[in-house]
Amino acid sequence: MIRATTRSELQDAVGAARAAGHRIAFVPTMGALHEGHLSLIDTARDAAGFVVLSVFVNPLQFGPAEDFASYPRDIETDAALGAARGADLLFAPGGGEVYRHGEPVVVIEAPGLDGRLCGAHRPGHFRGVLTVVAKLFHIVKPDLAVFGRKDVQQLVMIRRMVRDLDFPVEIVAAPIVREPDGLARSSRNVYLTPEQRAEAVLLGASLRQAQAAFAGGETSAAALAARVAATLARGAGIRPQYIEVVSEDTLERVETVRPGDIIAIAAYVGRTRLIDNHTLD
Ligand code: PAJ
Repeated sequence: MIRATTRSELQDAVGAARAAGHRIAFVPTMGALHEGHLSLIDTARDAAGFVVLSVFVNPLQFGPAEDFASYPRDIETDAALGAARGADLLFAPGGGEVYRHGEPVVVIEAPGLDGRLCGAHRPGHFRGVLTVVAKLFHIVKPDLAVFGRKDVQQLVMIRRMVRDLDFPVEIVAAPIVREPDGLARSSRNVYLTPEQRAEAVLLGASLRQAQAAFAGGETSAAALAARVAATLARGAGIRPQYIEVVSEDTLERVETVRPGDIIAIAAYVGRTRLIDNHTLD
């Protein structure tokens, strides 16, 4: 696996791969790699001959009270995991390499989607995400990029950015990877105490119950959300932030659920904010 920390190192290697006839697939991450991230490399490998993995903890997408400083960072472990999984290049730039001219004055926003789900609770977060992803797309120039359904609002917003602003990048979605007990894999799971980790299974379990109820004929979004809330209430340390059923295209709330709609939750488990979602079918 080639390692690059500067744009020119990256672009030399990507240019050589392109000259050799390969399509370029891109997997952007913030590191602390786990099986969820690594599954995206598998998806990328299936679609392209050259896979670029990036690890960059993007300061622009963290709020002032969020965990930018304490976000888990271990680039050597990430490099070993990425190489073992078959990434061809690891791009791990410093902040100065990505934000060469300081904090950007021109940014990308999606006001119509930003007020929904996580966006309503993390002001400026998706502006930071869309802006860094746009910059990374310009730096890497991939043919396709892979994003996990775990961060479904991010996936939907990046799809819209690419469509509305004519980015020449195909966006590929990958399924949520879970622990054996159903907890969605997340870099933030390391913050959980053993007791909180045990309660966190209720997130995935509540979504499975919502799916079962929908499959059994319950089409009221309010009724499904109420079931999820009742299950989460069994965890003494769980504080839900939102439980919503939305349509995938617009992220607008629905009242009557149709197949393909998404039930999404964010909840604090202790001081750790976790998200999860399930596509109802
Ligand atoms: P990060 O949280 O590191 O996630 C990187 C990618 O891994 C995202 O596409 C995310 O959806 C995916 N992912 C994380 N956990 C997953 C799981 N359990 N199953 C499947 N996919 C999973 O998302 C970001 O970083 C950043 O916002 C980024 C896009 C890199 C921009 O800074």
